[in-house]
Amino acid sequence: MTAQRCCNAETGALDQVGASICCEPESTRALPADGATVKDIVRRKYSDIALGEGCGGYSMIGDAYDDVEGYAPEADLGLGCGLPTQHAALAPGQTVLDLGSGAGMDAFVARREVGAEGTVIGLDFAEPMVDRARTHAAMLGYENVRFVVGDIEEMPLESASVDVVISNCVLNLVPAKRKAFAEIHRVLKPGGYFTISDVVLRGPLPEAVRQSVESYVGCVAGAMERFAYLRLIREAGFSGVRVMQERPIVQAAEALSITVRGVKPRELQGPQHTR
Ligand SMILES: C[S@@+](CC[C@H](N)C(=O)[O-])C[C@H]1O[C@@H](n2cnc3c(N)ncnc32)[C@H](O)[C@@H]1O
Repeated sequence: MTAQRCCNAETGALDQVGASICCEPESTRALPADGATVKDIVRRKYSDIALGEGCGGYSMIGDAYDDVEGYAPEADLGLGCGLPTQHAALAPGQTVLDLGSGAGMDAFVARREVGAEGTVIGLDFAEPMVDRARTHAAMLGYENVRFVVGDIEEMPLESASVDVVISNCVLNLVPAKRKAFAEIHRVLKPGGYFTISDVVLRGPLPEAVRQSVESYVGCVAGAMERFAYLRLIREAGFSGVRVMQERPIVQAAEALSITVRGVKPRELQGPQHTR
């Protein structure tokens, strides 16, 4: 899980190495300014990873999932940066939404917690990731776990339809984070909550890193400053915002992995988020 995927520069094949971000032509490209182009690049990169093609090298911190009940190693592509389910206090019967579900790793752990009477929805905008997650769900025989193709900035889900939102190392990749948290607020039921593992910054990144496509798809360059991130969550209407876990990551001295929780109040105060 902590190994990193890199493409062999000569063969183009994926190797498992312990080195850091590597061998990607896009490392020399500057990050485009507009969010739509950035999202296209992200979608393409993670589609390639799902297909086992192209360069990876995005492996984050990696947590030891091996002892976590419900962990399915085949669904773990080494792309997470925390254990959101371990801080989510999931209960049988809940409806859980996993944003940027990848190959389904956290969705399957959540399924273990919510049981057969619960529902887990995985959302990802990379179709090959969704295909891969669906294959795993079928192999595991989980009929109450479904994966949908969709963008976090505009989720194809009903308002007030889920109890808990989880996500693992994804929101840093979303250009419009305010929109993403507004969407999370919209789809949660009143009293519902999120537990999200993500990358934030404790200091400014070197310019070359901030402008690098590779650092963006590697979950660093798109990260927000820690306090601005927590403020944005509160401004989206969440209460009880609490950092459950926080630690440095190896990819950048200025970056941290955090797991944060927030609650959608039962009685809404301030702007309501409808579409
Ligand atoms: C770093 S990977 C993490 C995958 C998974 N959560 C895990 O831990 O294995 C980020 C995932 O988020 C997805 N993603 C990024 N931006 C997205 C967006 N705007 N809407 C939906 N999915 C997105 C990518 O396609 C990718 O599968």
